[in-house]
Amino acid sequence: MKEYLLFTPGPVNIELNVRMATLKSDICHRESDFDFLLQGVEDKLLTLLDIKNKSNYRAVVITGSGTAANESILSSVVGERNILIVSNGEFGERLFHISEVHNKNTSLLRFPWGKKLDIKKIEEYVSSHKVDIVCMVHHETSSGMMNSLECVGAIAKAHGAMFIADCVSSAGAEVIDMEKCNIAFCSSSSSKAISSYPGLSFVVGKKDEFEKIKNLPIKTTYLNLYKFYTFIKEASQTPNTPAVHLFYALDQALMNILNEGVSSHHALIKKRASALRKGMLKLGLTFLIDRKDMSSVLTTVNIPSHIDLHDFHQKLYDKSIIVYKGKGCFEDRVFQVGNIGELSFGDIRFFLDALKSVLQSFDCVKEENVVSTGSISPLLAHTKKFKTSIGECV
Ligand SMILES: Cc1ncc(COP(=O)(O)O)c(C=O)c1O
Repeated sequence: MKEYLLFTPGPVNIELNVRMATLKSDICHRESDFDFLLQGVEDKLLTLLDIKNKSNYRAVVITGSGTAANESILSSVVGERNILIVSNGEFGERLFHISEVHNKNTSLLRFPWGKKLDIKKIEEYVSSHKVDIVCMVHHETSSGMMNSLECVGAIAKAHGAMFIADCVSSAGAEVIDMEKCNIAFCSSSSSKAISSYPGLSFVVGKKDEFEKIKNLPIKTTYLNLYKFYTFIKEASQTPNTPAVHLFYALDQALMNILNEGVSSHHALIKKRASALRKGMLKLGLTFLIDRKDMSSVLTTVNIPSHIDLHDFHQKLYDKSIIVYKGKGCFEDRVFQVGNIGELSFGDIRFFLDALKSVLQSFDCVKEENVVSTGSISPLLAHTKKFKTSIGECV
């Protein structure tokens, strides 16, 4: 079977020791072997999120993708309270739609996709409305924008509101300080920057907030967060049959990051992003958002206007390279290049060489469109102009 280089925000290429971890013994999830495995995973998750006072927090692991963790939080912790979702992209809006299903008092404060959150407007909204809970995405994967947990967490704190963060595509790559950012519940998944296989997600939360769920109406059964909490608290287990071997893999992937150190791992990922961005700029490509606002996880690149994104994607695919195609209002306008998972600087060079030849192949086909722009690459001249402003997309 063909091997691919996954330049995506996840799932990613998996390190050998994580692959090998799935070959460990067959164990029963109702025996002490699994309890021990889960305890180890939980402790590592708390360390990953920089929690110093571990006795105040718990982490539960759910067999399901990142959405399972988000839905578990949003269906379990809100009750009849007012929840505000702050969004500037696809994944913020998904949080809104999940919350709407479970919580009648859900509001959305929507900012344009690809634009920064307007902290002043969030402050104004929270000051002038009854907001009990604020929820947002940390790394808005649809644009690559890093949203500030510190700023929004501080607003929630100042107004006595609970703060929930979707860290699905940031945990493992970015440095997250749950305590400092006042996060009550945070979600993430195994298959993105943590660089394990898809299939597990987790919720890390304050113990006293987990305890409070007990008194709230039960809106779901399988994703009932309180049930996950009681099972781990009382027996170091999960309510239903977990994907046992994925826990081995997650444990090893977490160990890989923690052995390196969260900050050093972040610095390595950033260095990869820098190398990719430098190389892509050299090819005349331009980026959707300002470099200073980007996460270290991925780069969203404008597709030159003479290039059909599907052909472009296919040509890279034929070279065993996978990139993401833009979503929502960015569909057909951008592609996304991730730099997480097992990826060497040699792989990055291979990618940049392949990208150059794919871009050149389009110039050959469309030679009549190539204009000379002096020192600027001809590709830059073709960068697709948005027909509408980004704000109109949403
Ligand atoms: C920020 C964010 N939240 C939630 C999700 C949904 O995760 P999953 O597809 O694992 O359910 C994603 C997936 O890319 C994401 O990037």
